[in-house]
Amino acid sequence: YTTNSTFPESFLWAAGTSSYQCEGAHLTNGKTLSVVEKNINNQYADPSVASGHYQLWETDVELMKDLGLKAYRFSISWPRILPNGRGAVNQEGINFYRNIIAKLKEYHIEPIVTIYHFDLPQCLQDEYGGWSSRKIIKDFEEYCQVLFDHFGNDVKYWITINEQSNMFQLPYLMEFDEQLPLEKQKFEMNHIMTVAHAKAIHRCRQTIADAKIGPALGIIPNYPASAKPEDILAAKHADDLRTYLFMDLYMKGKYKQSVWNYMVHKGVEPTIEPGDMACIKTAKPDFIGINYYQSRVVKFVPKDTAEKELKLNYDGEADETQFENIPGLYEGAANPYTNKTQWDWEIDPVGLRYLLNDIYDRYDVPVLITENGIGTMDELTEKKEILDEERIDFLRNHLIQLHLAMQDGVKVWGYVVWSFIDLLSTSSGFRKRYGLVYIDRDDTDLKTLERIKKQSYHWYQAVITSNGQSL
Ligand code: BG6
Repeated sequence: YTTNSTFPESFLWAAGTSSYQCEGAHLTNGKTLSVVEKNINNQYADPSVASGHYQLWETDVELMKDLGLKAYRFSISWPRILPNGRGAVNQEGINFYRNIIAKLKEYHIEPIVTIYHFDLPQCLQDEYGGWSSRKIIKDFEEYCQVLFDHFGNDVKYWITINEQSNMFQLPYLMEFDEQLPLEKQKFEMNHIMTVAHAKAIHRCRQTIADAKIGPALGIIPNYPASAKPEDILAAKHADDLRTYLFMDLYMKGKYKQSVWNYMVHKGVEPTIEPGDMACIKTAKPDFIGINYYQSRVVKFVPKDTAEKELKLNYDGEADETQFENIPGLYEGAANPYTNKTQWDWEIDPVGLRYLLNDIYDRYDVPVLITENGIGTMDELTEKKEILDEERIDFLRNHLIQLHLAMQDGVKVWGYVVWSFIDLLSTSSGFRKRYGLVYIDRDDTDLKTLERIKKQSYHWYQAVITSNGQSL
């Protein structure tokens, strides 16, 4: 990789976290429980301490300054700001984030704030079923307004909702009503969430004149397993259901026709109320945030065969509601050309260049990489070092492909390493680490919570200082 082209001076070299994954103090100073904290609790590490960021945030911001970060992406916890989901504002919660933001500004680190990163107040789930009820639209709008009013002077970059697409696939992120058909519930919730996202954009524009706001979508591009035309079509179907359903809603303000047909065919299309589509269409985001970790290969398998195979695999009904495999449309297959992480996620830096070009061609919108990183089992050496070369390779190779995509013409204005410090992995607790900074604790033992810079921290520091020249 050699290039004469440089990253723009304004490029935001960043790293990120989310509230429930790093803060801890999940029932402290007025905060109430969120759905994800309840569901992840006891499964892996419990969220009452997480990375101890609630107590140690000043140490963490000093580390950001030392690293040279241009921006820091973090999320605000809805139940820390509004313990009842709406109504009375918790001043302790406001102060916590206000202090962080002030320190970031002092160090010229741009705050990028995620409004919703999986942490719905549990009380709203209990009261009316959370995202399954349209009542949440008004409550979400009110929550957004509180954030814009309190932080709008200092925060200019906002992310509405993190990974709307994944929210419907991972059972610990959402609660469903077991008495009702699952797929129908998922598409209803998706619609409600899209309206809420659009309302947040409208409110933001009414309140903060110079803000930039957009969603962050987790995207896994699908490759066909072969040049067989049916496999090519299978990859398209998978992309439609897993990516373009959401992207078309955000960017074009409409349902992709093929996805709408699929929903109607299965009798699971959402209820659209008057005004919904106009609200969505007039809320075109300023940018799209992309969380990129991996690509996927899919193939076509005829419906009968696929159903038989799935029955054998799962010993039960084929679960189409995860949208991972849909008999008669697509099914996952192996990629012989890529390596995998310890958690079997395909490592595919070129996929990032491919995806960026694809998204930019379709939607002509600037991109922020809101997450990119690798989960590993980092171990401290006797000298108390973390030699995470695998992470350095991963980040370097992805940044090279990102830079090539920029030379292809894609407008990318920043890159957020996931994650800044080790945090509670959403799927696997503390055994799966993402940070540039090691946190001395594991799933069962809280140890010292000491912060230790990994080798990747020093590498990223050099990348930032040289504005990408040292890649
Ligand atoms: C994204 C989330 O899904 O991927 C993060 O936005 C999460 O919160 C990241 O940590 C990696 O996933 P996991 O399950 O390995 O933590």
